[in-house]
Amino acid sequence: MKPMLSRLWAYVRPHVWMLVVSLSLVSVVGLLEAATPFLIGIIFDTVLKASATPVIVIPFVNAQFDLSASDGTIFLVLLIVATAVKAAAEYGSVNVTAYVGQAVVRDLRNGLFERILLQPLRFFHSNPTGELISRVSADVERIQTVASETLAEFLKQAAILIFLLITIFAIDWKLAATSLVLAPLVFYPTVWFGKRLRLLSRSNQQEMAEMANILYETLAGNRIVKAFSMEKAEAGRFRKVTQRVFKLNLRQRMTHSLSSPLMEILGVFVVAAFLLYARSQIANQRMTVGLFVAFIIALIKLYDPVRRMSGINNSFQQAFGASGRIFEILELETERDSGRAALPRFSDRIEFDDVHFAYESGVPVLDGISLTVRHGEVLAIVGSSGAGKTTLVNLLPRFYDLTHGRILIDGKDIRDFQLHSLRQQIAIVTQDVILFNDTIRANIAYGGPAAGEDAIRRAAKAALVDEFVTSFDTRIGERGLRLSGGERQRLSIARALLKDAPILILDEATSSLDTQSEALVQQALENLMEGRTTIVIAHRLSTVRRADRIIALADGRIKESGTHEELVLRRGLYWKLYNLQFQTWRPMPTQEAAEGGSR
Ligand SMILES: Nc1ncnc2c1ncn2[C@@H]1O[C@H](COP(=O)(O)OP(=O)(O)OP(=O)(O)O)[C@@H](O)[C@H]1O
Ligand SMILES: [Mg+2]
Repeated sequence: MKPMLSRLWAYVRPHVWMLVVSLSLVSVVGLLEAATPFLIGIIFDTVLKASATPVIVIPFVNAQFDLSASDGTIFLVLLIVATAVKAAAEYGSVNVTAYVGQAVVRDLRNGLFERILLQPLRFFHSNPTGELISRVSADVERIQTVASETLAEFLKQAAILIFLLITIFAIDWKLAATSLVLAPLVFYPTVWFGKRLRLLSRSNQQEMAEMANILYETLAGNRIVKAFSMEKAEAGRFRKVTQRVFKLNLRQRMTHSLSSPLMEILGVFVVAAFLLYARSQIANQRMTVGLFVAFIIALIKLYDPVRRMSGINNSFQQAFGASGRIFEILELETERDSGRAALPRFSDRIEFDDVHFAYESGVPVLDGISLTVRHGEVLAIVGSSGAGKTTLVNLLPRFYDLTHGRILIDGKDIRDFQLHSLRQQIAIVTQDVILFNDTIRANIAYGGPAAGEDAIRRAAKAALVDEFVTSFDTRIGERGLRLSGGERQRLSIARALLKDAPILILDEATSSLDTQSEALVQQALENLMEGRTTIVIAHRLSTVRRADRIIALADGRIKESGTHEELVLRRGLYWKLYNLQFQTWRPMPTQEAAEGGSR
């Protein structure tokens, strides 16, 4: 709990002056709250003449004021003024504290989002999207409630508590001391309930994240759910989670509702014990009736903040549970970006030098790849599904770091370059197109929002996007769902064109487009490859034929390398793949495809 407080403190520190203002206002509230019972006590003695000789004794300095002469009107006025000032200070303190709380929440949320964005790709494979969304929204929300409401309440109650304690000690320290002796009786259950609630809150959040994850998966992948008739099974999976959430919520509620009545019962015993003692004090004339009334009011008032503190403690525990999960992410290391040098524009060669890679240790995916791609060359990679083609090209922009070996660009290890400068030189068009719910223009200019209208138009034209676009300001829907597959691909090609990077990575889609879209995408790709060094994971025969060199990948190694003609003559792995993949490929409108089909 301690380190958590100090970690949270780092977020509060920038707003420390607002916190000081809030603390001062809160102290005024506490002071006046404690003064009220005192004033009421004096009013009892003076206005109502409850005691024969009303005397105010100020403890520790031994000053005494005889109030027999006063009719007490001044104290009535003071009572009204005190109440008014207290209300104003309370209003101010609540709002200032809320400001601090909301600012902390905003900073936490931003920090969390940025930290997640900077995680290596690996992180996103092991952390489902739904869970991450729940951290940034639900967990931060939990802290938000505490930071804006509970914190203000806590400060106010703490100030009231302190000043009321001073009041009762001033009136009768023995009676007050007895209250402290009895206090653990009230506080122990508070601690116990807090612990229990924190535990329950944590499991509850985990289940909620699981639920969000199922929701996200089945809604976003609804087509697959339908295709496999998995509606029943998914509904069953969902029911199991909601049942667990139901049980957890119930237990949380039960624990929560038990804590209040229990404290109340304990409180009433304490009050009764105090009354017994006070009776003898009054009888021995060690106290005026007014002071006795003041003590009782202060005591009753004191009971309220103590009781509330237990509720506040519970909320704090819940927030600590949530912040535990938030700080887990905030303290993760970001993507390793240790390179200092800026990569000059690529001009000579890319070398893979004995590259080894494994996603999980012990399961090698790439097992000693050595390979050179010259400037301006088109290198095609072929291999069966799962051979490691995507993995290999993902190493170039350092989406993953090598287990062993080096990758060099123009003779220098890519780890020596700043990530940003490395990735700027590489344009990627992937198998699954990722677009953002924004306009066509914004999607083309993604990564280069400063791009001029002219550049965007040129990219759109070269990628044949202008064929289906009526206005660049059209929004394309969530993940581009308002576009066809081929249109989405051409849009992503336009995006790569605008980036104008010297190195191009193409992970061709295997998903079949209709013949006409295929031809359009093919044409757009040709335009994109123009004048660039291209590494293409080839599924189309036309691409393979066009490549300067082809490598065939299997078991994490390069099995064969050469031109199409050379490899066909070898009758090896490429020949097998070629027969499997391309001979059965439906006829394509390009010249090469027609030739390939008739062989
Ligand atoms: N994030 C990951 N974590 C663990 N293993 C992975 C991960 N991504 C891929 N793999 C494994 O690495 C191997 C190579 O995968 P890769 O995606 O590179 O294949 P591929 O050649 O591109 O296949 P395809 O033609 O189907 O796209 C596969 O066995 C795959 O299961
Ligand atoms: Mg792949």
